[in-house]
Amino acid sequence: MPKRLLTILLHSLSLLPLLLLIINGLGGRLTANPIQAITQRTGQAAVLWLLFSLSCSPLQWLSGWHFAGQARRPLGLYAFFYAALHFLTFAVLDYGLNLSLIGAALLEKRFILVGLLALLLLLALALTSNRAAMRYLGRHWKRLHRLSYAAALAVLHYLWAVKSDIRQPLLYGSILLILLTLRLPPIRRALIHLRQRS
Ligand code: HEM
Repeated sequence: MPKRLLTILLHSLSLLPLLLLIINGLGGRLTANPIQAITQRTGQAAVLWLLFSLSCSPLQWLSGWHFAGQARRPLGLYAFFYAALHFLTFAVLDYGLNLSLIGAALLEKRFILVGLLALLLLLALALTSNRAAMRYLGRHWKRLHRLSYAAALAVLHYLWAVKSDIRQPLLYGSILLILLTLRLPPIRRALIHLRQRS
């Protein structure tokens, strides 16, 4: 498939959660508690797009598909975009930008504090994702570490946020663990070797 088409597909699919949110919102189909529904949907999209972004390199090593490597950055930026919408829903729609209430929630609820740390890491990544900043900061692994820590904190935030059924955060946590294990140098080398032999 030509790169241009793949790029259009990547952006269309990444904007789909937002489009569905707007369509469902305008149609009044966001449950009896729309603010909670928006918070949950944007949170889900943020954590999913983080996992997609972290899947790109292993996919490239295994398949040799260059586009997978190029998709990592936009997917990470979409993760930040949804995390920012998620935070804004919480801060503006839910807490009416009341800073003392937001501060109290941060101090009282550990899952909110962990969410904030994940968001700050994603913000740092988004701010340094342009070419000039990447040249200045150098080493690729620093960015990768930030992305991995943000994903780990986001999964922990999810685990602590849900009240009863922890199956989905545990599933995301397991996928994250597999994705991070695939990056260990011997496993990465084995993946590349496997591709070159086939
Ligand atoms: C300061 C930053 C953040 C705040 C204040 C915040 C706030 C919240 C709140 C209040 C909920 C509970 C929603 C509910 O069920 O009532 C929630 C759930 C969630 N958040 Fe965050 N969050 C933050 C950062 C993040 C980040 C950075 C991510 C992902 C990258 C994330 C992903 C999620 C997910 C996946 C859920 C669970 C959604 C579900 O129940 O389906 N959050 N967050």
